[in-house]
Amino acid sequence: MCGIVGIINEGNISVKNDLLKSLKRLEYRGYDSVGFADVQGNVEKDIGEISKFMDSIKDYKTSCAISHTRWATHGGVTKTNSHPHWNSKKNIFTVHNGIIENYEELKKELISKGHEFITETDSEIISHFFDEELKSKTMIEAIKSFIRRIKGTYAILIIEKGKNRIYAIKKDSPLVLGLAKDRFYLASDIYAFSDNTNKAIFFEDEEFAIVDPDRYSFYDLNGNELKKSIYEFTWAITQEESVKDYPHYMIKEIHEQPISSQRLLNSLDGEQHEKVAKIANLIKNSKRVVFTAAGSSYYASLLGVYFLNRIGINAHTLIASEFQNFMLVDKDTLLIAISQSGETMDVVTATKWARERGAKIVSLVNVPHSTLQRISDISLEIHAGPEISVAATKTFTNQVVALLYLSYILGFSINMKTIPEKIDYVINENEESIKHLANELYDKKDIYIIGRGLSYPPSREMALKLKEISYIHAEGMMGGELKHGTIALIEPGTPVIALIPGKDFDMHSNAKEVEARGARVIKIANMMESDFKIDVTINDGKFAILSVVIGQLLTYYIARKKGLPIDKPRNLAKSVTVK
Ligand code: F6R
Repeated sequence: MCGIVGIINEGNISVKNDLLKSLKRLEYRGYDSVGFADVQGNVEKDIGEISKFMDSIKDYKTSCAISHTRWATHGGVTKTNSHPHWNSKKNIFTVHNGIIENYEELKKELISKGHEFITETDSEIISHFFDEELKSKTMIEAIKSFIRRIKGTYAILIIEKGKNRIYAIKKDSPLVLGLAKDRFYLASDIYAFSDNTNKAIFFEDEEFAIVDPDRYSFYDLNGNELKKSIYEFTWAITQEESVKDYPHYMIKEIHEQPISSQRLLNSLDGEQHEKVAKIANLIKNSKRVVFTAAGSSYYASLLGVYFLNRIGINAHTLIASEFQNFMLVDKDTLLIAISQSGETMDVVTATKWARERGAKIVSLVNVPHSTLQRISDISLEIHAGPEISVAATKTFTNQVVALLYLSYILGFSINMKTIPEKIDYVINENEESIKHLANELYDKKDIYIIGRGLSYPPSREMALKLKEISYIHAEGMMGGELKHGTIALIEPGTPVIALIPGKDFDMHSNAKEVEARGARVIKIANMMESDFKIDVTINDGKFAILSVVIGQLLTYYIARKKGLPIDKPRNLAKSVTVK
């Protein structure tokens, strides 16, 4: 997590209007605190969000500066612990995304050499380390020694007071150089500069770069200069970038789903069709098909398993952080890794691990050229467009659309074409009644959501949305499992949302069982009595998407009623690049 941005320019830039504006585009990576440093030696930092920080500082002009938005790992959310950090002489400034695992040992060593530390962070050792090394080495030698000595993950930017130059080093945390007309950007991801340029060079692990106003050079860990390719990405969907017609990004992104799912369908029928066919072949011909993902992407993968199993293809999924503990992988395995950001550390780590064991790698990502995409044999893009709100909404839907499409190619029966219009219908027909339900449920402590088969993954996804955005404890579970323990928690009035796809009588009975114990049962069904309108026929795979859309809206309106920070919920970040 954490976002970093550096800009180096031929002339001057405005710290507020250029640097921090770019950094703001990465705020979804963390928003505990913010700070910047420039080559003149100016440093400002504070806790809280970037817009508040921008209002509080003067508009510095500089040709070279670095900045950071933090998601705290080591050390509390305080001004002192915020980045940038500096050395005792305050002439080396650094920003860091990642975790330095052996920082305690290095800190002791540096303290014994007279360095004074003022923060509780692991990151602070970086500026002191370079200060020490530069006493006897050139910067290139110092960076080589840094890569050798440091255990952990890092994307780091370093500037020295009075020198118009940025040094950038990467291992296991994302870092990219953006090539714009008059400036270079160094950033955690392309979104920091995608409004200004679509040309980028991606750092691989243990590479570093030296960037001057008019040139850049890349090196490997031994200091050999590298020739790197420039990528041109297509990504921005400009009409979707403005939030002005909506109070929050989350509701804007929920409403975008008919358009974004249509865009994906067009691309799966069109320019991505060949890739789809190749992936379908791999699925058919692999001995073992396993998925891995985290959070909402994991729930999408559970649906992938369900769809493939329905057509006789054996598939499994496992949460990425536990993948190496519970999954067998070999050269006959096909791994399908799903990640909106393509940067989730657990997913990237599990994928690299599977790759080392000879597995073929397919990925589904939203962010083009992300790490996951670059380590995959084939990568499908889900074309949801930038998702700014921390909650996955349109990206979850598009992940499921892509999985449905793949399954459809392999024989799963579904009319893919009607997905966008069915989503549109569900939003239009139900939004008002969902607002009323939100008014009824907003002060509840617990909500249970039950599902079976097609509706089990949606029950988990809905529960996750309710927890992270509306701060209500929610459990999504298998309807059949309820009576094996959890039913003891059902009291008169406890809300239970029952997701009943088609004519699932077992699911209907599970709803009756909790109703008999006084639960306030809310039914989301398409072929039985329902509290919401869902216009799909029996056991249509689209039910999974549509029930989640209702859950997204319910979450949004509950959070709004409670006055919560919907797009930036507490303690979270959108891109989880630490383990
Ligand atoms: C939930 C949410 C997270 C992400 C998870 C994985 O709304 O956004 O649970 O789904 O952190 O992120 P990606 O898909 O980027 O790997």
